[in-house]
Amino acid sequence: MRILVTGGAGFIGSHVVDAYVAAGHEVAVLDNFSTGNEANLNPAAETHRVDLRDQPGVERVIAGFRPEIVNHHAAQSEVPKSVADPGYDAHVNIVGGLNVLKSSTDNGVKKVIFISTGGALYGEPDVVPAGEDHPVRPLSPYGTSKFSFEQYLGTFKRTFGLEFTVLRYANIYGPRQDFYAEEGRVVAIFASRMLARKPVTVDGDGEQSRDMLHVGDAATANLAALERGSGGIYHVSSGIPVTVNDLFRKLALLTDYTSSPKHGPRRKGDVYRIALDNSRARRDLGWEPRVDLEEGLSLTVDYFREQVSRAPA
Ligand SMILES: NC(=O)c1ccc[n+]([C@@H]2O[C@H](COP(=O)([O-])OP(=O)(O)OC[C@H]3O[C@@H](n4cnc5c(N)ncnc54)[C@H](O)[C@@H]3O)[C@@H](O)[C@H]2O)c1
Repeated sequence: MRILVTGGAGFIGSHVVDAYVAAGHEVAVLDNFSTGNEANLNPAAETHRVDLRDQPGVERVIAGFRPEIVNHHAAQSEVPKSVADPGYDAHVNIVGGLNVLKSSTDNGVKKVIFISTGGALYGEPDVVPAGEDHPVRPLSPYGTSKFSFEQYLGTFKRTFGLEFTVLRYANIYGPRQDFYAEEGRVVAIFASRMLARKPVTVDGDGEQSRDMLHVGDAATANLAALERGSGGIYHVSSGIPVTVNDLFRKLALLTDYTSSPKHGPRRKGDVYRIALDNSRARRDLGWEPRVDLEEGLSLTVDYFREQVSRAPA
């Protein structure tokens, strides 16, 4: 298949590009490199340095490549940035995304796979793990812009017949994650600071929990969504809550880090306890997470160890 991956130079999008290329698909990347990185690019994929907000630019790429599938990872993905500048967040995530949808319908794209969030939609969930039908009540403009775009997908399907699948990610961690990525970055920050023997700060009491999923499992969900899950919304998650203190302990063991953490203030607007039920994705997409937390953290520490050893002194 011909697949355009927006955000394919970013942390998760680049792993998705690698998985699609490895499965024999023809892949192109659209990215403005605002947080993406040249080093993440797969040489087998053609790259277009274009901003989502540049409507003629987006149209040129989609009309030129004529993908059957558009996998939409590019986004303003930082919660604090969306709070500081909700207009910018909406421009990228809603208006930019609409440029992708409009060009997709105009150029015969069959399906859009949209990457949404599970962590920033439900507020403090009523039940853990929360299902996809849990009431939506985002605490940040980022959560609202992602949810709005999900609604547009319904409209484009009803009015233009454009198929879609929504993948609502948990906190994704793993190789290539940088510290600026908002959700899931706790692992990248802890691992790299522990390896550098720097102090580590835990927000609040550390008993807040998150649903952590290795990026390799996010990539296989994107493979499954090529053929399955049309019209569906799916949690791509582990389903298991893990506390920040647990993550600290596990990573300290892997990095031989012996210092105790400092405790900072609890972050305003942070959800305290969350996990996302993934049974719908297991049933409809035939997908399941394969990398357990121990293995995933160990692979991630190996990656950061290599980065540290390569960094100039
Ligand atoms: N990291 C997580 O745990 C997590 C959780 C839930 C959802 N998500 C979603 O997954 C997607 C990928 O996130 P990530 O963690 O890999 O972040 P990332 O910042 O590494 O990737 C985003 C990519 O989009 C590109 N981009 C940003 N603005 C753009 C624009 N205006 N035009 C074109 N390209 C633009 C960036 O350069 C980058 O390559 C995002 O949609 C994010 O909201 C991530």
